[in-house]
Amino acid sequence: MQRTFILLKPDCVQRRLMGQVIARFEAKGLNFVAMRMLQITPELAKKHYAEHVEKGWYPMLEGFITGGPVVAAVVEGLDAVRVVREMLGATNGLQAAPGTIRGDYSSSQQMNLVHGSDSLESAAREIALYFADEQVCSYEPTITKWMHAANE
Ligand code: CDP
Ligand code: MG
Repeated sequence: MQRTFILLKPDCVQRRLMGQVIARFEAKGLNFVAMRMLQITPELAKKHYAEHVEKGWYPMLEGFITGGPVVAAVVEGLDAVRVVREMLGATNGLQAAPGTIRGDYSSSQQMNLVHGSDSLESAAREIALYFADEQVCSYEPTITKWMHAANE
């Protein structure tokens, strides 16, 4: 069982796609264990995207990600880091495969709707940027026994 961090970016909120995106993750079998809406500050953006701060396109990304409210969330599930990344698809919505979230809803490299952690280490770092330990609510959904075999 893994935890990973998801961010519904400002384009997702503005385009009223939050419900459709959340429904896909729920239908897959991922459990939402934390969620909150906030507006990202430039300081938080620089921490979240620390690996990209020096890139030429970072100022555009910062303007976008701080430009409207976002929804931060933590989901839990088997192999959750990889599963979420594959559900998102390639970074550029124009290249993301149909059937992925970005492939189905995005026509942009920047405005690609949803962020997902790229490794377990990134997930732990990003979860800690947005949530205190006590804000993550672990629980066992009663439906679990119908989502996967007991030995999976
Ligand atoms: O989000 P992902 O890990 O797929 O992509 P990334 O290469 O780590 O880039 C982080 C985010 O920066 C992307 O999701 C885009 O929103 C944005 N980006 C951008 O605005 N311009 C680029 N040339 C590349 C990425
Ligand atoms: Mg990335």
